[in-house]
Amino acid sequence: MDLASQIYVRKSCRNYLDDEIDMSEIQKFISNVNPLDESIRYHYKIFKKDEVNIKTRWRAPYYLALYSENNEMSGVNIGFVFQQVSLYLQSIGIGSCWVGMGSLKEKDSEFVILIAFGKSDRMTRDRADFKRKSLSDISDFEDEKLIPAQLAPSAINSQPWYFKHTEDGFDVYQQKQNILKRQILKKWNPIDVGIALAHLYVENMDMFSFEVKNSYDEMKGYTYIGSIKI
Ligand SMILES: Cc1cc2nc3c(=O)[nH]c(=O)nc-3n(C[C@H](O)[C@H](O)[C@H](O)COP(=O)(O)O)c2cc1C
Repeated sequence: MDLASQIYVRKSCRNYLDDEIDMSEIQKFISNVNPLDESIRYHYKIFKKDEVNIKTRWRAPYYLALYSENNEMSGVNIGFVFQQVSLYLQSIGIGSCWVGMGSLKEKDSEFVILIAFGKSDRMTRDRADFKRKSLSDISDFEDEKLIPAQLAPSAINSQPWYFKHTEDGFDVYQQKQNILKRQILKKWNPIDVGIALAHLYVENMDMFSFEVKNSYDEMKGYTYIGSIKI
């Protein structure tokens, strides 16, 4: 199972086959994933397509519903955990797509977001087909170490992450959105940052660590999220 290689070929899957999936291996993988913050309680449920409200034009056979206790880092942590799951699914021939435009039939105050998934034969692409900001746009200077984060998926491809070099890693920031975009993205951008951190984690599993420092550089237009060593 090579999760890291999936980063360079994956895409958000919007074409699914109706095949049934045995969930046991997936559940086993999820129960072993490392979170970013051990202290935040989260859980998930698996629904079939008719059991959730979906506003996208396409449908997947299954949906992961993600729930978290409410905490400043909930969104980042959920993105971190479940992007690892998404890469795992991709590695076993199952496509997936984060779905902000969906909700539960039964309201739940801990509900965060859905992930569509299912078997697919249209879930990979060439490196040239990734539409992303340049490395110099997402960091204080260009650094190929950041390619896994650069290629991460994000809500409406907003790519809100920014990385400032430190001695042994990066301070990680989330871009503040203008007033128009803020309404849509304020719930999803922390998830996006967690997703980008998951990509850096799977590429640097042995080295990776995360902490929230008490003192860091303020950056105009950005919110400090935490610091990583990789
Ligand atoms: C938090 C989040 C929410 C998303 N919501 C939707 C959605 O509601 N509908 C959809 O079609 N794609 C959704 N996406 C997928 C993004 O549009 C996609 O990741 C982005 O355009 C980059 O494309 P890629 O994932 O194929 O690299 C979402 C992605 C993230 C990370």
